[in-house]
Amino acid sequence: MRIVLVGPPGAGKGTQAAFLAQNLSIPHISTGDLFRANISQQTELGKLAKSYMDEGNLVPDEVTIAMARDRMEQPDAANGFLLDGFPRNVSQAEALDQALKADGVELDAVLDLEVPEDEVVKRIAGRRICRNESSHVFHVTYSPPKKEGVCDACGGELYQRDDDSEETVRRRLEVYHTQTEPIIDYYRAQGLVVTISALGKVDDVTKRAMEALDRQVEGKDQSDEDKSDSEDGDDK
Ligand code: AP5
Ligand code: MG
Repeated sequence: MRIVLVGPPGAGKGTQAAFLAQNLSIPHISTGDLFRANISQQTELGKLAKSYMDEGNLVPDEVTIAMARDRMEQPDAANGFLLDGFPRNVSQAEALDQALKADGVELDAVLDLEVPEDEVVKRIAGRRICRNESSHVFHVTYSPPKKEGVCDACGGELYQRDDDSEETVRRRLEVYHTQTEPIIDYYRAQGLVVTISALGKVDDVTKRAMEALDRQVEGKDQSDEDKSDSEDGDDK
């Protein structure tokens, strides 16, 4: 399956992506995590990305699209992937469409996580993530680690992201509304969007997401069959 996950900062995209990717046996590809890995390795790409991320702005399309494409071309993504944080504006969505078309494949669903803004702010304020590559996500109140400051999964150090300050979060939300939300309409026109509430327990949201994805994929298969039947009919 090829899925795009969309939702405001702090909606729980990374949290849900970890479970959904495992359930669906596809890799979780997060452009935010890829940029953060570059920052911690102090690469040129990391230095460039940091200057945009610290302000809550999008990293320029040219480097972002190249990095995402490069990751999608890895062998583990040959049969599908779950994209988290990409595409993030209409030009990135168009670039993704072109790349998929060139490979003769298409997206199966765009899962839109809906969360009220006051909840997003609470989620971001308490978020702690693991410094190691796994990027496990915790919350000081909602999903605390067993030992404070230590990742349950790998023992890595937990830290608060530089872009989780109140001012930067405000800017990230503004960027989400102006630049990212338009991709929902872009994909709605392709019949790909499923919207779910991301409120409630993490497990309940995962269950809701899996059910919504199943329904979307069944509906898409049916409409592909109908299209092919009508094309056969046209030939007669
Ligand atoms: P990115 O890393 O993608 O950040 P984001 O989209 O702002 O989203 P977040 O990671 O903040 O939130 P999330 O939805 O993953 O929530 P999480 O699961 O952690 O991007 C960062 C920056 O990189 C961008 O601003 C930009 O500069 C750059 N960038 C990235 N991609 C780009 C692109 N394509 N183009 C250009 N620039 C790009 O959960 C949040 C908290 O809530 C956690 O503490 C979690 O434990 C908790 N939580 C989760 N679910 C629940 C629940 N159900 N109940 C209670 N708490 C919950
Ligand atoms: Mg995330």
